[in-house]
Amino acid sequence: MNVYFDNAATTPIRKEVIQVISSVMENCFGNPSSVHAYGRTAKTNLETSRKGIAAALNAAPQEIIFTSGGTESDNMILHSAVKDLGVKTIISSSIEHHAILHAMDALKLLHGIEVLFVNLLDDGSIDLKNLASLLQKDTSKKLVSLMHVNNEIGNILDLTKVGELCHVNNALFHTDAVQGIGHYTFDMDQLPVDFLSAAAHKFHGPKGVGFSFVRKNSGLQPSIHGGSQERGLRAGTESVHNIVGMCKALELAYANLNSEKKQVLDLKKYFIEKISILFPNVVFNGLSGSDNGSTFTLVNVALPISKEKSSLLDFHLDLKGIACSKGSACQSGSSSGSHVLNAVQQSTIKDWPSLRFSFSIFNSKKEVDYLMEVLKDFSA
Ligand SMILES: Cc1ncc(COP(=O)(O)O)c(C=O)c1O
Repeated sequence: MNVYFDNAATTPIRKEVIQVISSVMENCFGNPSSVHAYGRTAKTNLETSRKGIAAALNAAPQEIIFTSGGTESDNMILHSAVKDLGVKTIISSSIEHHAILHAMDALKLLHGIEVLFVNLLDDGSIDLKNLASLLQKDTSKKLVSLMHVNNEIGNILDLTKVGELCHVNNALFHTDAVQGIGHYTFDMDQLPVDFLSAAAHKFHGPKGVGFSFVRKNSGLQPSIHGGSQERGLRAGTESVHNIVGMCKALELAYANLNSEKKQVLDLKKYFIEKISILFPNVVFNGLSGSDNGSTFTLVNVALPISKEKSSLLDFHLDLKGIACSKGSACQSGSSSGSHVLNAVQQSTIKDWPSLRFSFSIFNSKKEVDYLMEVLKDFSA
């Protein structure tokens, strides 16, 4: 049996999405910047998709800038905020994706900006009191960049609370919503968020395409120089077929949101019930063991397995056709390991193997049962 429990890494593309992508590739190959009929058809497809995505998020179409995905969107916004908006301090957390952490490292070197990390509570949530004090530390121009849903432990950030806190302190707010878009509703007209990043492949769309939400009149300047695509902000011929596919994937995600969310949450609860029977001492990393405060799509478990057995765990799961993500904390003396688990795990369980299982509508309880059968060998 082959089981794909790694949907936080990427999701399978919906059949309807593959169909529209193929149709655009076949019938609409024009360059959207060309003025002839081929170009005009491509442009119509592009702008219809922009409107569709904007409508799904209650944003204005001109606030949606197409990019190659989450990493580019994160980099674009952080770099532009420093280069164009006079940001001197970025406040973020140590459990962000590397697209944020490494972009901030580069900005420190390139522009000498200050990077401040907000404290985390024991469960991995952001300490909002500490965030308030960092925002009030001095009068330098600040950008707060905090992710909506953590890709390893699933913790969800209250975007309204954080955005309001930023704005009363005259700071800009960016959220990496790569794991949240298509899974939760967003009303960009109401949310106090200035910038947001998204990637289609996390909501059953194609890879290599995403978007930045950039609030109107933000003052951002071009991040990639060249042609005048994307209102001059991001040059380069748009990947029309992927963009149309992304729009279709987002529309389908929101059309079926409640029923699909329930289906995946039921699966997560079933998984939690079964793994807790098999490993009564299992620890759920971050808030991932709850259905409140954590996304319905993933669970990250630290398993009480002996060192000898745990060295075989990844190999065994792979051999049995099960795909999931390994995310253990670094073992003492080693420099690798998950920076997220290193930040949030208690030292007593840092030697235990941790695994992230992430689900989608294409998974079933039968697959969870099969996984438990396979894990039985490790539970005794
Ligand atoms: C939270 C988060 N941010 C950014 C990214 C990077 O997105 P992409 O792979 O589209 O560049 C990912 C992908 O794993 C992610 O989970």
